[in-house]
Order: sequence, then C-alpha cells, then structure tokens
Amino acid sequence: MTTSAWERPWCASLDASRIGERVEVVGWVRRRRDLGGLIFVDLRDRSGLLQLVFEDALVGAGEGLSSEDVLKVRGTVRARAVGQENPELASGEIELKVEELELLTSAETPPFVIENRVNASEELRLSHRYLDLRRPEMTANLVLRHRVVAEARRYFDGLDFIEVETPILTRSTPEGARDFLVPSRIHRGSFYALPQSPQLFKQLLQVAGIGRYLQVTRCFRDEDLRADRQPEFTQIDLEASFVCEEDIYSLIEGLFARIFPLVGIEPPARFPRLTYREAMERFGCDRPDTRFGLELVELGPLCAGCGFTVLESAAAAGRVKGLVLPGGAALSRKELDALSEAVKHYGAPGVLWFKRAADGVASPAKKALGDEGVLRFLDAAGAATGDLLLALGGPEATVLAALGALRLQLARERGLIAAGRHDFLWVTDFPLLEWNADDGRFYAMHHPFTSPQAEDLPLLASDPAAVRARAYDVVMDGVELGGGSIRIHDPEIQRQMFAALGIGEDEARERFGFLLEAFRYGVPPHGGLALGLDRMVMLMAGRDSIRDVIAFPKTTSATCLMTRAPSAVDAHQLAELGLQVREPGDRG
Ligand code: AMO
Repeated sequence: MTTSAWERPWCASLDASRIGERVEVVGWVRRRRDLGGLIFVDLRDRSGLLQLVFEDALVGAGEGLSSEDVLKVRGTVRARAVGQENPELASGEIELKVEELELLTSAETPPFVIENRVNASEELRLSHRYLDLRRPEMTANLVLRHRVVAEARRYFDGLDFIEVETPILTRSTPEGARDFLVPSRIHRGSFYALPQSPQLFKQLLQVAGIGRYLQVTRCFRDEDLRADRQPEFTQIDLEASFVCEEDIYSLIEGLFARIFPLVGIEPPARFPRLTYREAMERFGCDRPDTRFGLELVELGPLCAGCGFTVLESAAAAGRVKGLVLPGGAALSRKELDALSEAVKHYGAPGVLWFKRAADGVASPAKKALGDEGVLRFLDAAGAATGDLLLALGGPEATVLAALGALRLQLARERGLIAAGRHDFLWVTDFPLLEWNADDGRFYAMHHPFTSPQAEDLPLLASDPAAVRARAYDVVMDGVELGGGSIRIHDPEIQRQMFAALGIGEDEARERFGFLLEAFRYGVPPHGGLALGLDRMVMLMAGRDSIRDVIAFPKTTSATCLMTRAPSAVDAHQLAELGLQVREPGDRG
C-alpha cells in the first residue's frame, strides 16, 4: 500500500468512523511508553496526536524509537480498549495498530520538551524556533493566523477588492517611525527605504482607477519595540475610491463579523464610537479599554481657591482630574504610596488620595480643606462610602497619560476585567496635527495625506492644533487594531497641509512630487485603513505578545536569536556598496 501524500490522513483526523481501515500516517514521536510486550507511541503532526500501538513482532521496532524521531507507519485503525479512551484528544477513541514502520530520521534529544507546558526561557525557544513551533499551542497560533488571512481575502474578494503588490524597495514614506534603509550598489550613496506602509502606493492605485485595493503586506519600522510592536509586521491594508468614513466603518465591522467567530468571539454588528476628545477625557487614552469603569472625573473647577495650594497651583498649571476606586478606602498607606510611585513614570509628581470611610473622611489634603472640603471632592467624583478618590494635577498631557495608565494598572491588579468580555470601538475625530515641543513644529498625527474635516479647514492656518482630521482607529480591549483616514484629494488642501507641517514647496516637490503630479490627472476621493494582523491574531489567540503569533519574530532588541540577524557583512560587500562602518563614538 502506498498513499499519495495528499490523501494521507492527519494524525488527529482519524476517529471511530475509520475503525477497521488500513492507513498510512507520518509524524514525530512525542513520547514512548513501554508496557512490556506492548509499546505505545504518541505520534504528533500539525493536527494533533495519534496513539500508535506496537505489539507482537513489532515490539522490537517500537523499542528503538525516541522522542522527535520522524516516522512513517502503516497499520489498522481500531477502538481503544475500554477505559483507555482519552476525551481530550480528537483521535482519543481510537489507536493505530502498527503493521509496518519506517524510521525516516532519528532525532537527538531536543533542548527543551516539546509540550504546551514548557519550562524553557523564551530565549531558548526563540533560538530553536522550529522546535518551539512544534508545540501544539504555537502550531495552533500559526493555523489561526492563516485562517484569519484566508477569510479576510475571501471577504474582500467578495466585495470586488483586488490584491495588488507594492514595492518593498522604495522611497522613504513619512509615517512617524525611523526607516530601514537599503544601500543601492548601482547608485552609490543612494538608499532605498523599506516601506513603513504602502500608503502612497495604495493612494496612487486609486488614481490608477483600481478602486478597491487590498494587500496583506509586510511593513518595516525601526522603532522601540514592545510586546505589541515588531520591526517587521503585517498589515491587512486596504484603500477604496468614492468612500466616506461610514463606508470604512461598515467594511471593517463586516470583516470582523467574519473573522472573530473563528475563535468564538461575536463582535457587535455596529461598534460604539468615541471621539478622540471623549476618549482622552474619560479614559486618558486614545485606545481606551472600555471593559471596566474607573472613568476619569473632572476636578478642576473645585480647585481654584479651595485652600490647598497643591491643588490650586496644579489647576492653574493645567488640569486636575481623578478616578474613583470602588472599595479603595481600605487601601493601606503602602499601597497608596505604590500608586503614587507608579504615576511618576509619566512625569506626574504623585497622586493625592481622598478616602470616604464609614467613620469619616481622610486625605493628606484634609488639614487644608477640612472635612467639608474633602467631601466636596468626594461628592463631585461620585465616591460612595468605602471608596477612594485618586486625584492628579498638572499639564493636561501628563494628567491624562498618568491617570489613563493608573486606571489600567488598577483594573489589572484588582481583576476588574471580566473574563471572556471583548469590547470593540471606533475612535474618531483625531486631531490632524500634533505639536512637538522638542522640534518646535507640528507633525501629522496620522500622516500628511489625511484630510482635515471640512468645517475645521479655516483653522488650518490660524489654529492648526484645533483642526480635526477625518481619521479613525479601530480598538479592541484597549489595543489599537487598525487606523486609517479619508485622504486629501485636493492639491490645494495638500499644499496647506504641507505648509502647516513646515514642508516648503520645494521639499514637497522633492519628496512627494510623484503623488502631487498624479493628483493633477483626475484623483478620485478616497480613503482606507490598515489593520495590524499580528495584534489582531494575538488578541484572538488570547496572547499577550505578538511574538507568539509570528513564526520567526525578533526579540525586543530587534535581533533574531535563531539566524543571529542582524550580522556583520563581508568587507567586499561593504566595499561594493561604497560603505564604511564606523565604531560607535568614532567621528572619523
Ligand atoms: P498605522 O501606522 O496606524 O497606519 O498602522 C496600522 C496598524 O498597524 C499596526 N502596527 C504595528 N503592528 C506591529 N508592530 C508595529 N511596529 C506596528 N506599527 C503599526 C497597528 C496599527 O493600528 N498607512 C496607515 C494606514 C492608513 O492610513 O490606511 C498606517 O500604516 O495595529
């Protein structure tokens, strides 16, 4: 009997319906158990496990097998002995009585045990990633990732989107992060940039009349890495002509309705919407986690002339806001000090606490404010008996960032996020521009091709910070899954935008001349969005790091522990490129 590779069953696909059939299977030895005269081997492939039984004449062959050996076996499917069934396995009712064994390759003992419950460090797992990926939970993440992409492609294909590839060797597109550069051999001293996103190309495809563009594409950004950031990551990138915000919202809501049920999550048909301003005021964050309360409250109006100079001067310097922790009056001094320490990472001096206990109120501000003054704050914040109010004052950005972070920390520490709950929402009306005090200039909050809102256009020259953009983010459980905008298609508005960014006509022509020229030949109104595939699959798989859903990720210091990239290159490769490496600190 020889079986075509494509007809050969997967280990976990065999079940009671196949009893009596002769089959051929292949896979890796997960574990061997000798029962004297009878040997059980768990065979593993991508699908899961199958129990093999070596009896009689085959016992000797079975005895020589060790973990991770690669086998081809033929045998007959039979029911497991009564009481030996394993309901946790897809193939748990049956076993394969081995009749022929072919040891394809034998394996050395791996550096860690290949099981879901692995006690190896992430470093060791990443340096032998091919073994790590054999662990069923890691294999499952890759399979899920594939399913998400396949379903997304089907969905967009059904809506007449076409997938178009855009260049990887391109010109730097300003997207806010540092570019990865590739030196040109032919044009010495010139560099390609790896795309931070296909932004300009997908817009040019709209000028080309493609109308509905999709690409599952790799993007490259040389930025500081975190659990949800990699130097190369994948976007489900889309752009369409003759669309408005509502079209993009319903497009993504429709996509999520197809994708999330793959893991048993049913998103609402329409996602709630929050303006950027509201998100910042209520949650201190533009990607709020709305699965729990602890919303920020306004305390500014109570501070002026309140009698406590700390609050008075904080209000004068910016904003005073707070949040109420239900039941928090029981927190110890040590716990309160730890919270004060935590906000210092965000540049805040500390938090001021107010307790409302059954036997009265307490606060370091009580001496200055009196019981009545403390009560005014507690009442304004809506704190009930047993609650704690944490207040923070200073420059607006600091107050919002620190309270937003404190809110997340408290929710995590106190288990306030209900298991199994998932919140989807749109954040809309982002500011068009962001002031950078270090450079003394505005930057585009999304990118320079994002359209201002028509009614705010007159402010572009007079009060740029007040202009709202036609930009939106889709957020799930406090994670930004994707972002996009309706683009500028009027060359005059694009010119005003560049002016607001301090990009002069010459520089604009030099950097984006091809886009500006294209817009002269009939540009349709257009807009789009890009989803971070890695982040989306991470949340679907219930993981905390995107590294777990990327086959070969980089560490937080941007290295690949398996291939040891990045690496030095031969002197002749450098010479050919006309490059010379200087040691750090060597000014040459
Ligand atoms: P943006 O820069 O918001 O938009 O990126 C879109 C989404 O990509 C994901 N993402 C990342 N994922 C992993 N690692 C990273 N370093 C990383 N950076 C971003 C996020 C993010 O929401 N061209 C625009 C889209 C558009 O306007 O259509 C863009 O790239 O999930």
